[in-house]
Amino acid sequence: MTNKYTVTAALPYANGPIHLGHVAGVYLPADTFVRYLRMNDADVLFVCGSDEHGAAITLRAKKEAVTPKAIVDKYHQLIGNAFADFGIEFDVYDRTTSDLHHETSSNFFKELNRKKRFVQKSSEQYYDEEFNQFLADRYITGTCPKCQSPDAYGDQCEKCGSDLSPTDLIDPRSTLSGKLPVLRKTSHWFLPMDEHEEWLKEWITQGRLDGVQQHDPKAWRNQVTGQCMSWIDGGLKPRAMTRDLDWGVKVPLPDGEGKVLYVWLDAPIGYISATKKWAKENGRNWEDYWLKEKAQDRRLVHFIGKDNIVFHAIIFPILLKDHGGYILPDNVPASEFLNLEGDKFSTSRNWAVWLHEYLEAYSDKTDELRYVLTSIAPESKDAEFTWKDYQARVNSELADVFGNFVNRTVVLTNKYYNGIVPAQGTRTDQDKAIIAQVCDTVARIGDLITKYKLREAQAEMMRIARIGNKYLADNEPWKLVKTDENRVEAIMSVALEITRQLSIACMPFLPKTSKKLQGFLNINCEKWNDLRANSELAVGLKINKAEILFKKIEDEFVELEVQKLKEKSQQTSKFPPMKELIDFETFQKMDLRMGKILSAEKVKKADKLLQLSVDTGIDTRTVVSGIAQHYAPEDVVGKTVLVLLNLAPRKIRGVESQGMILMAENEEGELSFLETEKEFLQGQSVS
Ligand code: 2FM
Ligand code: ZN
Repeated sequence: MTNKYTVTAALPYANGPIHLGHVAGVYLPADTFVRYLRMNDADVLFVCGSDEHGAAITLRAKKEAVTPKAIVDKYHQLIGNAFADFGIEFDVYDRTTSDLHHETSSNFFKELNRKKRFVQKSSEQYYDEEFNQFLADRYITGTCPKCQSPDAYGDQCEKCGSDLSPTDLIDPRSTLSGKLPVLRKTSHWFLPMDEHEEWLKEWITQGRLDGVQQHDPKAWRNQVTGQCMSWIDGGLKPRAMTRDLDWGVKVPLPDGEGKVLYVWLDAPIGYISATKKWAKENGRNWEDYWLKEKAQDRRLVHFIGKDNIVFHAIIFPILLKDHGGYILPDNVPASEFLNLEGDKFSTSRNWAVWLHEYLEAYSDKTDELRYVLTSIAPESKDAEFTWKDYQARVNSELADVFGNFVNRTVVLTNKYYNGIVPAQGTRTDQDKAIIAQVCDTVARIGDLITKYKLREAQAEMMRIARIGNKYLADNEPWKLVKTDENRVEAIMSVALEITRQLSIACMPFLPKTSKKLQGFLNINCEKWNDLRANSELAVGLKINKAEILFKKIEDEFVELEVQKLKEKSQQTSKFPPMKELIDFETFQKMDLRMGKILSAEKVKKADKLLQLSVDTGIDTRTVVSGIAQHYAPEDVVGKTVLVLLNLAPRKIRGVESQGMILMAENEEGELSFLETEKEFLQGQSVS
């Protein structure tokens, strides 16, 4: 069986930090898998980087009123540091704005064009006349025709996962101006995906390409095969591989002026460019990792989230095959989504635990986070992270089971033998059975990891600690120590062997803990092979003192984190937070009446102000109102309005305002008069 792997983790958009949902679904499973491969001396290359093109970036730049370059520079740094601090050990963390990537993706596109794999055609596309820009992908939103969600994008509905074109949207709106776009002709290079259905079907469901077995289709997750087949069965449509934008890899053809490559064409090629960068810096040949002829039976594995399935299991394979010479993915272990405290992770609502913020606060708790996220990894269905569950898993599993077993073994060895590993003595059948059970468990862990079942694999790892704990509890060496020294030696040597095995088997999941634990045992075993039962701790080896491996998480920690989450999301809500409470008496002090605007004129030298004459029923008074940019004077005359009468008069631009007109205001600053359902007369009160 091959031991050569090119492992990729989805390139995160450099338009914001990454949160625990991303970590649990993509980066942690990829890192755990790669750590296991490295322990097995696999020839593995682990590749990632920032996805720095596409509307995700340019829209963020517009929102923050900075350049796209400033956005990607900021987040590339922030994300890269967070990965490094968390101990995700990529061989290379590249970026798609690099020259090498532009050159690589540009050449890739040219080769496909040379081979006539695109169809160039003109079509009508939505255009924003105010911003003079064509609207594709995230530049356009509207109602999803499939699930009626009002916030579907031009390329995808995030609610139901449907693949969409801008023209599928009901009631389309430009993300830039919020206005109804118009249709305009433009020309693009399309990938005729419909022509690829047959081979894709055979490759995905049978693992065969041109009659040659490529991968084991049963090894693919059901939801990945299922999603691909539902796309294919629904009929693949040609998809534009270029965009009318100025941020991205320029279309390298004479008639490509003003156009860039579709971000989903260039991003996966980013895996190849990253490999080239790494190979250059490390004296290797990138072709060994990607080209069939050189890579031969090397496995290409893409760790991704489920929203990326079509791009990695359909579009990128089409591109690789069309180009020719490349290996295709052996597996695409896509995860489902992780939710947070009963709601979806949301960047816009700031409903997220950001990895860099977690690390700033708890740099000493990276293994705790790894453990919890793998325990709840959304491998086959959506899962949920809560701080209460985090506490429960750290306290009752890591501390009470793992930590407790290790601590008892190391402390007792120090106490009974001054830290010197005792002789094995005579092992009973039960002792031998326990060691065999641990060996079986270790074998299962390896098997599960190679099947991308990391959640189950970690549960098996924890089982080793449970076996050890039970063994000590059943044999009670602390009771026998006075009466049967020989038996205690045998028991402790078994317990030490279980601890040794645990210290190695936990390495892919809990790398720092593994190091600490091996420090207690005074060993340095970084290979899975060291798990063989014939490499037990040497009799006479002096081990070290134990330290607490996992501190318990207090209730206050949980309360604080939940509180932080709520506060952060309130601060970024598009609606202002609720004001301070007032009592009923204070409310009653306001004299609110219906009024009617009798006349209106602009206030001189003030763009925003209208001077209104308002019939309040009890008098006619002047009110200055900041509505001139929304209403012309003639629009408001005759309107019935709500007036706050007893607001202390105040001079505004030389005019005394004797009250206030109440209006509703939305987050875009648009204003609206408040209307009554029935007709009310001026002077009638509002309460
Ligand atoms: O969904 C995303 O965040 C994309 N930036 C993933 C790209 S993966 C690969 F194709 F680069
Ligand atoms: Zn939908």
